[in-house]
Amino acid sequence: MDLKSQINMDLLPRHIAIIMDGNGRWAKKYGKPRVFGHRNGVKAVRESSESCAELGVEYLTLYAFSTENWNRPKFEVNALMALLVETLRKEVETLNKNNIKLNSIGDLSKLPDRSREALLECIENTSGNDRMTLTLALNYSSRWEIQNAARLIAEEVEAGRLHSKDIDDKVFSDFLHTRNMPDPELMIRTSGEKRISNYLLYQMAYSELYFTDIYWPDFRREDLYKAIIDYQQRERRFGKTSEQLS
Ligand code: IPE
Ligand code: IPE
Ligand code: MG
Repeated sequence: MDLKSQINMDLLPRHIAIIMDGNGRWAKKYGKPRVFGHRNGVKAVRESSESCAELGVEYLTLYAFSTENWNRPKFEVNALMALLVETLRKEVETLNKNNIKLNSIGDLSKLPDRSREALLECIENTSGNDRMTLTLALNYSSRWEIQNAARLIAEEVEAGRLHSKDIDDKVFSDFLHTRNMPDPELMIRTSGEKRISNYLLYQMAYSELYFTDIYWPDFRREDLYKAIIDYQQRERRFGKTSEQLS
């Protein structure tokens, strides 16, 4: 069964957000340390990025490290940050080959200098690409992002540059890290967990949620196709009745 041919190209999501979860449990299944799972998750990142770009998805946003993830054992946090540097250095060529632009959301100021520098370098080196934007959520917290937007908007109002009555969805979205990006139509979480874990809370107001039991290191292009096909079979009503849509 060719899954790819079942995708309706006229109904492709413009933006897919993924919570890459289950690396630790995947490693445990093989009796290996958690970090082994993280290393093996890189292939899934590559496959999902390539297949999204090939299909014509414009934005792919991957949850790579949450603000809460700092609470993990120091060894694991250090390994994740080192893996980030190594992967960015290695993958910049593939990103350019696939015409993918790298972007990030989250508070980069708290990242180790080496990780932040590697990230900014990769963003710079891929800034001319325009087939797809791959965004990494790093030290990301949606609550923090929303609080930060509120703070910046308050400053604009205090300075007299903005009227409080003019704050609408468009203005608010412009103060989020995802400004200039459409909201994700589809959110995928792997590993069987069914929660949002502080990810894109504002942006996901009307996203279709798709949960799969597959652990992230096992996630392949066919799994992405399955998620898109499932999404395409849903009726997105945005508050209306089914009859109004036909
Ligand atoms: C996701 O896998 C990767 C990160 C959160 C960085 P986990 O490390 O959360 O794997 P599990 O959930 O413990 O299996
Ligand atoms: C969410 O996964 C964060 C990332 C995928 C980077 P977690 O594994 O940290 O989420 P919880 O703790 O199970 O909610
Ligand atoms: Mg997890």
